[in-house]
Amino acid sequence: TRDLKSITEGLGKLGLSQPDSSAQPLSHPDYNVVDVMRNYITNELHNISEVSKDIIFQALDSPNTLDKGDLIIPVPRLRLKGVNPKEKAAEWAAKFDKSKFLSEVKAEGPFLQFFFDKSILYNLVIKDVLKRGDNYGYLPLGINKKIIVEFSSPNIAKPFHAGHLRSTIIGGFLSNLYEKAGWDVERINYLGDWGKQFGVLAVGFEKYGSEDALSSDPINHLFEVYVKINADMKKEIEETGSSATDDKARDHFRKMEAGDETALAIWKRFRDLSIEKYIDTYARLNIAFDQYSGESQVSKETMADAMQLFADRGLIHEDRGAKLIDLSKFNKHLGKCLVQKSDGTSIYVTRDVGEAIKRYNTYKFDKMIYVIANQQDLHVKQFFEILKQMDFEWAKNLEHVNFGMVEGMSTRKGTVVFLDHILEETKEKMHEVMKQNPAKYALIENPEHIADLVGISAVMIQDMQSKRINNYEFKWERMLSFEGDTGPYLQYAHSRLRSVQRNSKIEESELLDANFDLLVEPCAANLIRTLAQYPDVIQRALKTHEPSTIVTYLFNLTHIVSQCYDILWVAGQEKDLAVARLALYASARQVLYNGMTLLGLTAVDRM
Ligand code: ARG
Repeated sequence: TRDLKSITEGLGKLGLSQPDSSAQPLSHPDYNVVDVMRNYITNELHNISEVSKDIIFQALDSPNTLDKGDLIIPVPRLRLKGVNPKEKAAEWAAKFDKSKFLSEVKAEGPFLQFFFDKSILYNLVIKDVLKRGDNYGYLPLGINKKIIVEFSSPNIAKPFHAGHLRSTIIGGFLSNLYEKAGWDVERINYLGDWGKQFGVLAVGFEKYGSEDALSSDPINHLFEVYVKINADMKKEIEETGSSATDDKARDHFRKMEAGDETALAIWKRFRDLSIEKYIDTYARLNIAFDQYSGESQVSKETMADAMQLFADRGLIHEDRGAKLIDLSKFNKHLGKCLVQKSDGTSIYVTRDVGEAIKRYNTYKFDKMIYVIANQQDLHVKQFFEILKQMDFEWAKNLEHVNFGMVEGMSTRKGTVVFLDHILEETKEKMHEVMKQNPAKYALIENPEHIADLVGISAVMIQDMQSKRINNYEFKWERMLSFEGDTGPYLQYAHSRLRSVQRNSKIEESELLDANFDLLVEPCAANLIRTLAQYPDVIQRALKTHEPSTIVTYLFNLTHIVSQCYDILWVAGQEKDLAVARLALYASARQVLYNGMTLLGLTAVDRM
């Protein structure tokens, strides 16, 4: 259902055709009704103003609220010299031919406000949404384009902290978003799976490890072992000033770096078992990685090649055996960057350089996004700059999507070791909240499962609600509430729309033939105008890379739906009216569902 022509067909039924779009290559009028209107307005305003079409098209903007129109043009944006924007706005509003596309064109100070004809919206949007279903919102923007989204990237045997949680949530969303826009998306998890800590872990496992615990619960077990052996090392140093365990660990890691098969076999088992477990946990968040890469996966050869390229470009200087790149020559904030230690071992930043080169050679990506906390802003800027200085022209296609911190994320047991712990506790707490309403609770078929899904939405919506860069506080009570703008509220709104449909006993197939002339209430108009915006909202999110762009839209949508409930009844109405209203609600349900799915939530049908 991706490439339907339902909008064009719908126009035909209304005796209209697609406005000429040959001068507006950025428009997608087969997928986005707002673009149909953009094209119409552009052509018409061009005729009366003689301003070039591309300038008009780019000047069309979405107002914040529906009372200001469906689209606006701030006249100063048309870059006309020596005219009074207010006068021009008034003159053009008076001359404008609204045709059947628009119901009103208004001048408001220097703004032109355009209001879409409601009948067109009902007829085009409801049918388009119902026919496309899960694909409503799809736009053919990234056809034949490849994008890599790297996200989550936890460290094996170390706690999964809030930074990893945010990266997982935001990265999952961005991957879905690009897919919705037609891109070929590769999801990569870049594990912290290399370094001396694996020597430490191997030595620790010899002493404290249990094969059973490793196979049943690898992530927690490895962390336990890691904590114990670290405590030993600390004690040794306190007592004797040096640590025999630490020496052994170093030795073990040196063997790994040298390719010693026994040492590598242990490491590989830790890694494989951890990944197996990760896969299940990510699945709870509807995330599946295409590839588990990691710091271990950057080969010696790649790294040597990179070092050679640094040297060829004269980027390297040595200091007591260590190799550095002075990036301050290119950007004074970046300073000097260590790229190889004096013992010849590579470091984090060099591995990132090597991994990026490897990824380009493998995928020839058109774009690559790294979802990493803003604590690593400098690190990312450094390796981006290094790649640029290596003259890779694709370095300009790298983008860092960063985010702020989460404060106060702890569970009953204290530290968060893995995502599982957060999700388990959320589920338990959500379950308790649900039990507080025994009458409702009794009706739920599989309350544990629902508690899990709704709880996960609570965590995710809390995270995606405001701009990425903001820090936020992890607040159990608020995020689990059914009131206010929370995940449970969105789930409730979705399940209520489902129940309106269930209770109506009207077949899905009857909805397409509804008589939309029966929808005359202002709240219905607000709802259809909002539903029409969805493809535009997707496009905006692609620019902002902000999940909050979608979240804000969905809350707005659910608020309008809830205003409709007071007025647009389905139950007890004459059949025709009930069908028309239900068609509107069914479209709202579909758009809410699509938005929730895009964010990574599983929308529930009953709760
Ligand atoms: N494993 C790292 C950490 O936990 C995050 C990796 C981010 N990605 C990267 N390409 N450096 O801090």
